[in-house]
Amino acid sequence: MRNRVMAGNWKMNKTYSEAVELATGLAAELKDGTGSVDVIVAPPAVDLKGVAEVIEQEKAPFALSAQNVYFEESGAYTGETAPSMLESVGATYCIIGHSERRGYFGETDEDINKKAKKLMEHGIIPISCCGEPLEVREAGTHVEFVTDQIKKDTEGLQITDPSKYIIAYEPIWAIGTGKTATADDAQEVCGAIRKTLAEIFGQETADGIRILYGGSAKPTNVAGFLEKDDVDGALVGGASLKADSFAAMVKAAM
Ligand code: PGA
Repeated sequence: MRNRVMAGNWKMNKTYSEAVELATGLAAELKDGTGSVDVIVAPPAVDLKGVAEVIEQEKAPFALSAQNVYFEESGAYTGETAPSMLESVGATYCIIGHSERRGYFGETDEDINKKAKKLMEHGIIPISCCGEPLEVREAGTHVEFVTDQIKKDTEGLQITDPSKYIIAYEPIWAIGTGKTATADDAQEVCGAIRKTLAEIFGQETADGIRILYGGSAKPTNVAGFLEKDDVDGALVGGASLKADSFAAMVKAAM
C-alpha cells in the first residue's frame, strides 16, 4: 500500500516573510492532520529555514523539500547548494529534474541521476521529475520518451526502501498552462513508468515507489487523477501558492 503524496512546488515565488506566512496558513488549514497523506512543501532555497521553523513551532503535518541541489559535497560551485546544506536546514525531500530546470538551465538526465545518488547518500528523498514536450505528445511517442528518461535518471540507483524515491510525471505542455492532461493520459504514462521500474528494480520495489502527476493540478481536478491505479499523488505548482487551495487538495487525497 502506497501512502499518497501531495507536494507543493512554490517555484520562484514568495519572499521570506511571504513563505513564512504561507506555511503558517497551511499549518492552520491542516491542524487536524493529513491522515496517511504525505504532505510536502518546496519553497525557494532562501525560504527553507523559515518554513522549517514554522513546521517545528506549529508542529505542522508537512515536510520540507528543496527545489534543486548540486551533486558535489562542497567547493567552488558558485550559486549552488550541497545536499548537506539542505539537510542542515531540515529539508528531507528535494525536487530534481523539473522541466523548468531541464529547459531553462540545461539540466540533463545524467545530472539528474547524479543528483539522485547524492541525495540518497544523504538520506534526502528525491522527487525526480520527467515528462514530454508538446511535440512529442503530438507525435504519439510520449510513453517511449518518458520511460527513456526514467531509465537514464534511475541508472545504477540502489533503492532499498521504495518509499524513499518519488517520481513526478509532468507533461510539459500541461505545466502552468491551465491545460491538464486527462486522468487517463496520466494513468497511461504513470502505468508505463511503473512497468519500467519493475523491469529495472523488480515488481516489489516498483509497487512501493510513489508516482505523482503534475501539470495544472488543482482542487477541482485532483480527485480524478488520484482515482487512477498508478497515480499516487500530485506535484502542484500554482495551486500550492494559497494555503486554502493546497489544503483542499490534501483533503481530496485523504
Ligand atoms: P502547475 O505546476 O501546477 O502550476 O502546472 C506544476 C509543476 O511544475 O510542478
